[in-house]
Amino acid sequence: MADSRNTANNLDAFWMPFTANRQFKQDPRLLVSAKGMYYTSSDGRKVLDGTAGLWCVNAGHARPKIVEAVANQIGELDYAPAFQMGHPKVFELASRLTAMMPSPLDHVFFTNSGSESVETALKIALAYQRVKGNGAKTRLIGRERGYHGVNFGGISVGGIVTNRKMFGTLLGGVDHIRHTHDLARNAFSRGVPEYGAEFADELERVILLHDASTVAAVIIEPVAGSTGVLIPPKGYLQRIREICDKYDVLLIFDEVITGFGRLGTPFAVDYFGVMPDLVVTAKGISNGVVPMGAVFAQKKIYDAFMTGPEHLIEFFHGYTYSGHPLACAAALATLDTYAEEGLLTKGAMDGDEPGDGKGLGTYWQTALHSLRGMPHVIDIRNIGLVGAIELEPIPGQPTKRAFTAFLKAYEKGVLIRTTGDIIALSPPLIVEKEHIDEIVATLAMILKDLA
Ligand SMILES: Cc1ncc(COP(=O)(O)O)c(C=O)c1O
Repeated sequence: MADSRNTANNLDAFWMPFTANRQFKQDPRLLVSAKGMYYTSSDGRKVLDGTAGLWCVNAGHARPKIVEAVANQIGELDYAPAFQMGHPKVFELASRLTAMMPSPLDHVFFTNSGSESVETALKIALAYQRVKGNGAKTRLIGRERGYHGVNFGGISVGGIVTNRKMFGTLLGGVDHIRHTHDLARNAFSRGVPEYGAEFADELERVILLHDASTVAAVIIEPVAGSTGVLIPPKGYLQRIREICDKYDVLLIFDEVITGFGRLGTPFAVDYFGVMPDLVVTAKGISNGVVPMGAVFAQKKIYDAFMTGPEHLIEFFHGYTYSGHPLACAAALATLDTYAEEGLLTKGAMDGDEPGDGKGLGTYWQTALHSLRGMPHVIDIRNIGLVGAIELEPIPGQPTKRAFTAFLKAYEKGVLIRTTGDIIALSPPLIVEKEHIDEIVATLAMILKDLA
């Protein structure tokens, strides 16, 4: 048997996720440590984290309280069975999380990732319709360009072609409405764009096409993140909610990215003032330190399952690691850190809270939009502490221009993320003005000479 200590450290064995494996292995980018706003690369360079890892390290890296909580938890209770058993921290966490969400989103189901949270929410929606006596309501509706993780339910309701086309017929009974991206009318919008609330009307058309009696739920990212930061037009989400109400269709918000302060409010639910029936979260819930996800459900949904003999399981779903003690310890310490440092509203615009003048959202917006007019830049958009710079693709070579920008930015010490020809930015919420200046100055330097 091979002894790993004697095995040459080559890069071949690891089949990397969502990665250009051959390009990476010719020119690897390895991160070996992280603290606060910075990674350190294996060649000893400091790299400013412009993406909060993968939109998850909202409190910044190696935060002492979180590190200590996880270290202590391993020694105290490493694991407790998730089924028919519990441990105190998982109940404490559920109570704290539901206290953060507006009522009646007052129950929470734990998972280990965004993808698992999506599957969980879709299954809750289908099962809810059934327990309510609406067993014919089985259709799910998603959106073009939606990203809901990589499992079969998620790619079925998702709308990213490359994530779907290789995997057969996916889930049956799924339809999609159009995305809201409209550069012709909304390019260079600051915050929520003005035009496009009427795109929501497509939901009504699709529901009527299938008949409302067959439609269980619609799932939407309030701000579509992974597809390149698509911000919903003014009034769009409100109209989606109204249509769902009219036809008794559940509304699921996928807040895997928008949750935990990304928009300058705790959740997108707060930002837009729209109340979904289920909210999917992950990532920032545990600061990316230990994998975790959570699905919030309205009281009416939880209550609908709590019928029948009390010794019977009400919902046949769950994961070995649902509410894992390490994840709960990380999440509790993460929530403490968010609260102590005011991070969940750090991305608010100046003056959002009367007299505070503290939100960094305005500074972020002004800094990003200063890149307008740079070569190839066809749009800049922002909301809270998230932003995107959309580039004109090189004819016949989509994604290449942005990928080159990503490589150059890494070389110059800033981690950005690209999707298609869009640069997406989402720094940890501990970001300060000087970090924003560093990100924008580096991007300006790169964009100036980008082929
Ligand atoms: C909106 C949304 N949903 C679901 C997911 C999937 O999360 P995970 O990668 O943790 O499975 C992501 C990941 O980026 C996401 O952005």
